[in-house]
Amino acid sequence: VFYEHPRDAKLPSAGVFGTFDVQQLQRGYKVYKEVCAACHALRHVAFRDLAQLGYSEAQVKAEAATWQVPGVDPNTGEAASRPGLATDYFPSPYPNDIAARAANNNAVPPDLSLITKARHDGSNYVYSLITGYQDQPAALLAQFPDAKTPNGLHYNPYFPNLNIAMAPPLTSDGQVTFDDGSSSTVASMSRDVAAFLTWAAEPTLAKRHQAGWPVVLFLIIASILAYLAYQNVWRNQK
Ligand code: HEM
Repeated sequence: VFYEHPRDAKLPSAGVFGTFDVQQLQRGYKVYKEVCAACHALRHVAFRDLAQLGYSEAQVKAEAATWQVPGVDPNTGEAASRPGLATDYFPSPYPNDIAARAANNNAVPPDLSLITKARHDGSNYVYSLITGYQDQPAALLAQFPDAKTPNGLHYNPYFPNLNIAMAPPLTSDGQVTFDDGSSSTVASMSRDVAAFLTWAAEPTLAKRHQAGWPVVLFLIIASILAYLAYQNVWRNQK
């Protein structure tokens, strides 16, 4: 078997105590904006959601305006793009799937809003996929000579069918410059964008984890009280 299970990206959101690191989400957003958004939409996330990443209302509006979204020319009524508003959603770079296929060797770059939920172990999967490009193993070719990666596809053992139409999107250290000055190696950029996409798919993850603990504590106390009450009620009965 040449398919590999995702490696652990060690994201702060992992596990029952998992939470988000807002600085990391901001870095991941920058990777998404500068690299992934050239091909992938995020249509369930609105610009105003960026407020959760620690941006002020004014910053969110300014950030939204740096994006172009589909709109209508008020004078001619024809389709035209306009700067984004806080209430707009992250647009697709392509007008339709046909255009998307034409630009990507007949594959459609999926919307990334829910990718960390749609794939098994999704957060780790995104990290592993982006950092997982490699040459096709000689053992695979020896066993299955016909399985040679076709032209225009790229071998990646984390992609279920092993050959993916997406070229490696992050190839050199420093490809994205982080505002907080933290190092941007291919691995750290991939980890940060995986963290950002985890947030995009479930912005309430940290709250959900936090809400769970008081509930468990309450159930433990309620169980102890119920047991003591039971003993008290039946004390005089044989
Ligand atoms: C597929 C992530 C940048 C084109 C995918 C998939 C993920 C992903 C998670 C889905 C694989 C699956 O279906 O399980 C990312 C991230 C990027 C990025 C995190 C930025 C760091 C790009 C760019 C392009 C691109 C810049 C275009 C130049 C594609 C295409 C597919 C794809 C065409 C479909 C591949 C196939 O079905 O064979 N990407 N991507 N991606 N991506 Fe990207």
